[in-house]
Amino acid sequence: MIKAIFLILFLAGTMALTSEEKALAAQTVDYQAKDYSRLLGMPGFSDSLLKMHFQLYQGYVKNTNLLLTQLNEMSLNGKTSSYEWGALKRRLGWEFDGMRLHELYFDNLGESGALDKTSPLYARILKDFGSFERWKKDFIATGAIRGIGWAVLYLDPVSGRLINTWINEHDLGHLAGGIPLLVMDVFEHAYITQWGLDRAKYIDAFFENIRWSEVERRWAEAQKKKTS
Ligand SMILES: [Fe+2]
Repeated sequence: MIKAIFLILFLAGTMALTSEEKALAAQTVDYQAKDYSRLLGMPGFSDSLLKMHFQLYQGYVKNTNLLLTQLNEMSLNGKTSSYEWGALKRRLGWEFDGMRLHELYFDNLGESGALDKTSPLYARILKDFGSFERWKKDFIATGAIRGIGWAVLYLDPVSGRLINTWINEHDLGHLAGGIPLLVMDVFEHAYITQWGLDRAKYIDAFFENIRWSEVERRWAEAQKKKTS
């Protein structure tokens, strides 16, 4: 009897959508890989390393699109209780964050110079860390943690606080509601073909090429979203 009720509910669920509604729901807008060729020739970074990294990023875009399409199709076909759907769903954060973190990373590279000492972001760094150098040392130490992942300077929009954060792989450790201001890739593929295991040299090169104007733009955008 209970099984029959579940079957009726299941069938009602799958039949709830008309064919037009199903066709509408099946339409997905694919993400497009961004072109980062402007970064070629960046001081300290070899073009071959960057080109390989762009390729890896493009793979995340492709897999994110593939995964979202598969999940949507399975959902539309009533397969959400399958083991496969659950396994793919668990994978989504890894692929999506792999795509988005690379975009944030490449977007915050490609300029030389320093953060404007008169900027509100600089003032907030002083408030939370005491000095820019102390923030930088803490960020570098975060990026030097053993393992593969990311160092991210997060803004917590609730408190306005800046927090240097370690992201394990792509998807573990994000701060809920946090806004990434500066993102540094410390997966081995980001440096090992050029600097070997000397991650510190790579981080030095990263700091020489931070596009602070983009970091400040993110900060300014984030101020509009602050909840307190
Ligand atoms: Fe990467």
